Amino acid sequence: MRIPIIAGNWKMNKTIKEAVAFIEEIKPQIEGTDVEVILCAPFILLKDMKEVSKGSNIKIGAQNMHFEESGAYTGEVSVLNLKEIGMDYVIIGHSERRQYFGETDENVNKKVKKALEYDINPIVCVGETLEERQAEKTRDKVKLQVEKAIEGLTHEQASRIVVAYEPIWAIGTGMAATSSDANEVIEYIRQTLESIYSSETAEKIRVQYGGSVKPQNVEEIMNEPDIDGALVGGASLDPQSFVKLVNF
Ligand code: G3H
Repeated sequence: MRIPIIAGNWKMNKTIKEAVAFIEEIKPQIEGTDVEVILCAPFILLKDMKEVSKGSNIKIGAQNMHFEESGAYTGEVSVLNLKEIGMDYVIIGHSERRQYFGETDENVNKKVKKALEYDINPIVCVGETLEERQAEKTRDKVKLQVEKAIEGLTHEQASRIVVAYEPIWAIGTGMAATSSDANEVIEYIRQTLESIYSSETAEKIRVQYGGSVKPQNVEEIMNEPDIDGALVGGASLDPQSFVKLVNF
């Protein structure tokens, strides 16, 4: 039985004060939920978010990390620091990092391995562009991204990752994939995982959908049999909107 996830990805939004106030507001409203609740935020917010979320069921994640533990990498953040402040999750290979910051499949794989080494669960993002979808290349694209991201992982390691299927054309556009289209691709992702590992391992790996998820469409998406969660950008920024997502 896979535990469903609702994860907010705040991207480059919010101040420390706003993040703390957000968590204080939502804490009592999501008590007792069966859903795993995750908030991923800019590095500088994370320590305070972890502190204020203590005693609640909210887990905190980073949005990136470096694959080396230390060294001459100006501006980068080490897994050791994420571990030090008790991070539960880290998003790896978000399409915005691939598009604007030169993140490659090879780097994604190195980061995934490093995060797992420190017991931080990676949320690995994959997804096709509009051109790739129109050219019917969606399956090829996500298969390749998944295969490269998990290259060299043991069954045990693979079972700890979360995959987020985020079609790039659906991110921040208000044009979510239909729930059945998203489910179809996610089913294919699980088949890919099964062909690499086993059905037993593939059944343990949670696969989320991301791209214009809102309180209005979250229930339909979460009701799909293969979709285990949502990775939400815009609609996770408002506390009451986020509460609605969690309590879908
Ligand atoms: O990581 C989150 C996704 O990029 C989705 O963003 O919900 O604003 O479309 P969005």
